[in-house]
Amino acid sequence: MKPVKKITKARDIKKAYLEFFKSKNHKIIDSASLIPENDPTVLFTTAGMHPLVPFLVGQQHPLGKRVANVQKCLRTGDIDEVGDTTHHTFFEMMGNWSFGDYFKKEAIEMSFEFLTKVLGIPISHFAVTCFKGDNDAPCDEESAKVWLGLGVPEERIAYLDKKDNWWGPAGETGPCGPDTEMFVWVGKEDPPKIYDFENGMWVEIWNDVFMAYDKTKEGKYLPLKQKNVDTGLGLERVTSILQGFDDNYRTELFWPIIENIEKLTKKKYGQKNDQHYINKGEQCWVDVRKKMRVIADHLRATVFILGDERAITPSNVDQGYILRRFIRRTIRNIRVLGVIIEKVDLLPFIKQIIEMYQEDYPLLGDKKDFIINEVSKEQTKFIRTLEKGLNKFENIASGKESNHEKISGQDAFLLFQSFGFPIEMTIELANERKIEVDVKSFNEEYEKHQELSRKGAEKKFKGGLSDASEETTKLHTATHLLGEALNNVLKEDIKQRGSNITPERLRFDFNFDRKLTSEELKAVEEEVNKVIEAEMEIVRAEMHLKEALDLGACGEFGAKYPEIVSVYTIGKNVKKGLDIYSKEICMGPHVNNTKELVKFKIKKEQSSSSGVRRIKAVLVKE
Ligand code: ALA
Repeated sequence: MKPVKKITKARDIKKAYLEFFKSKNHKIIDSASLIPENDPTVLFTTAGMHPLVPFLVGQQHPLGKRVANVQKCLRTGDIDEVGDTTHHTFFEMMGNWSFGDYFKKEAIEMSFEFLTKVLGIPISHFAVTCFKGDNDAPCDEESAKVWLGLGVPEERIAYLDKKDNWWGPAGETGPCGPDTEMFVWVGKEDPPKIYDFENGMWVEIWNDVFMAYDKTKEGKYLPLKQKNVDTGLGLERVTSILQGFDDNYRTELFWPIIENIEKLTKKKYGQKNDQHYINKGEQCWVDVRKKMRVIADHLRATVFILGDERAITPSNVDQGYILRRFIRRTIRNIRVLGVIIEKVDLLPFIKQIIEMYQEDYPLLGDKKDFIINEVSKEQTKFIRTLEKGLNKFENIASGKESNHEKISGQDAFLLFQSFGFPIEMTIELANERKIEVDVKSFNEEYEKHQELSRKGAEKKFKGGLSDASEETTKLHTATHLLGEALNNVLKEDIKQRGSNITPERLRFDFNFDRKLTSEELKAVEEEVNKVIEAEMEIVRAEMHLKEALDLGACGEFGAKYPEIVSVYTIGKNVKKGLDIYSKEICMGPHVNNTKELVKFKIKKEQSSSSGVRRIKAVLVKE
């Protein structure tokens, strides 16, 4: 499609959209967090309707029956499609809702008016789909009639089944219904007369969902009390279409990032295929443009997850794991584009994206230091093991260490555990060489390990603290203080890798790859003693694991916790939430106040295994 001259910048489109719906008596609401509240079945907010579910099922919205907004969304289901021209993990969705107010006719008329009159999309480039009907709901002739009445020709209306023309629920159960989807022809040549839903030049830009059903756990579709409208219009796609592109990455929402990727990699986005020596002389073809898109997409998603109102940091579970995958995949992809690992640095990109988006999302600016710090920690950690891991992978893949056709579960687990390769990364690497990964046995291996480490932890707990004597209890508390002090002094994400406590001393293993200097050891010792002198209280609380993680409680690396965990908080006035020093998921026991420890002394610091250091320390009576 030729560029439309009316409104073309993403920002102006958002403004025009909200103004338009304001003029149609909608109240404008803020974007909700990317992390859904009260919905354990999904990790991220996947659509604008997601935070609005209570109002779709009958609760009264304080602002009335018509609302509209621009919602931050993140979809991991599309992750494999990222790299094409229209799919993203993170994206901005404009949407308008009717909670039991207007229905099909008005919703379609408003969508059509906005697209053709406000944005100026020619009807010659327009097509729609409607629900074909099945046992759960009838054919949506009503919507088709409205489209015909607006001048959309019959040959530009297709009827499709549930797979294509039904939306929701967002999680496993809840409001859903048939939808009518709007498409625009993005090809340079004139659009064909007849709409063909398999032709990729027709890009879906807007979806009007008529939410009149409630999907139950049993898979039944029951009628909802009220008939709602839920719509979603992807900002990236509309912007691209209005600017005359057939590629969202050419818009100002991504292009400055792509330009910087070009500079760093010394490759051009325009060149489709390029030849590289990925490792040890192995020749590999990679689609440069696709890799650049994935990098830009994942970097943007990383900024928005870290910059969300609910603090999420990289980890091995839930949203933190997705974030970790984004960061690690980005690092690997930059390397695939020929950048030596020492030159890979995501921070300039992260800063750039914060700059680009902070006017619309001021929280990104407020959380700038946090975002940068977390990316920095994660990249340091991964870059340290990436080369070795890739070498290991090459050995495994070339059959040097394994004769199996598939990458075995054990090998995939080794790459996960020792080199920090998310399983998805191993699969991606294997796919590039057209080999498979035995994911099932990886999962078994993973489970087995969790089970062993749980048993190990129990054993350790018995061995170390079975007597729960005063001395061992004190040393246990000292272990928590030590872990925290190491984090603060070394400014890295220090995680416990092992702990052993006797009545005489504590022994604490943690991830760190060099010897600590005597200044560092002194600083750690001093910090622990300051906390002891500050007479901080220690409080235990039981809560759901998710709540504990949301509160930022730390846990042991790789440990699998039960649903309900106990969290020990150390601070000046824990009950009032003042000056919290540390928060850890732990079985206890601990002393009630740090003053009981009297004085802490480090006796020895040494290597425990590769990338793991060990500290032995005691408590002394002054
Ligand atoms: N909830 C609908 C969608 O995401 C509008 O497409």
